[in-house]
Amino acid sequence: PSQKIIIALDGFAACGKSTLAKSLAKKLNYIYVDTGAMYRAVTLYFLQEKISLEDEQAIAQALDNIRIDFRHRAGANHCFLNGEDVEEEIRKMHVSKWVSPVAAISAVRRFLVKQQQAMGRFKGLVMDGRDIGTVVFPEAELKLFMTASYEVRSQRRLAELQAKGLSASLAEVRENLMERDQIDSSREDSPLRKADDAITIDNSELSMNEQLDLALDLAQKAIEKKKCSVSATV
Ligand code: CDP
Ligand code: CDP
Repeated sequence: PSQKIIIALDGFAACGKSTLAKSLAKKLNYIYVDTGAMYRAVTLYFLQEKISLEDEQAIAQALDNIRIDFRHRAGANHCFLNGEDVEEEIRKMHVSKWVSPVAAISAVRRFLVKQQQAMGRFKGLVMDGRDIGTVVFPEAELKLFMTASYEVRSQRRLAELQAKGLSASLAEVRENLMERDQIDSSREDSPLRKADDAITIDNSELSMNEQLDLALDLAQKAIEKKKCSVSATV
């Protein structure tokens, strides 16, 4: 049996999940999977093809035509939609505005959750999203639930968009984060919630190094525990 673990990282919008997941994966030599990018890629496809969110048949057909994968580009993980690099496009505001309604559709969730579970079959991965500890990997050895104040999150996300040369206002970003959290937390299928056994990290006042040290310590403990249980069974 594998001595590697699965780390599930869930939480609200723009609270630092992917930054932490990426650096954790690098330190542990694990795979990093950004499930938000997958929901964003499906949303981009629906927007491009003008799929009505009311039309179940069109949605099923569209999902049949969607292939999502991740590839390394210039030291970063890029999301590809049907062979095209959409990493930049999926972060734009028009996608952010539609992604939560799309992610509330059960057919979309079934389609992506199946792929996410397949990515974890050899363990050794850090996955971030909204339902990783509750639905995708309820058996994950380490579950973290991240949060931060809206002030801090909106400022951080705005800075991120500006650094990429994408335009948005602070009010627009803040509103989008609040609206997505609301839809994500109240949807019927796999709502965003903290798993009972998840550890909460509020990083409003933490630097990226501080949050990494904290999570790395928890990860190492979980890995040790796993090693002990593996050696006890062989
Ligand atoms: O990075 P940011 O916090 O802006 O969001 P994201 O992780 O890219 O996720 C975008 C949206 O995808 C979320 O607001 C959710 O609506 C949806 N999502 C989801 O429903 N389940 C996941 N496991 C991941 C994302
Ligand atoms: O994945 P998620 O949407 O939860 O958040 P993210 O994209 O990882 O983080 C949003 C921004 O917050 C990034 O630009 C990070 O560099 C920044 N951040 C920070 O300044 N301090 C932290 N402790 C965590 C994240």
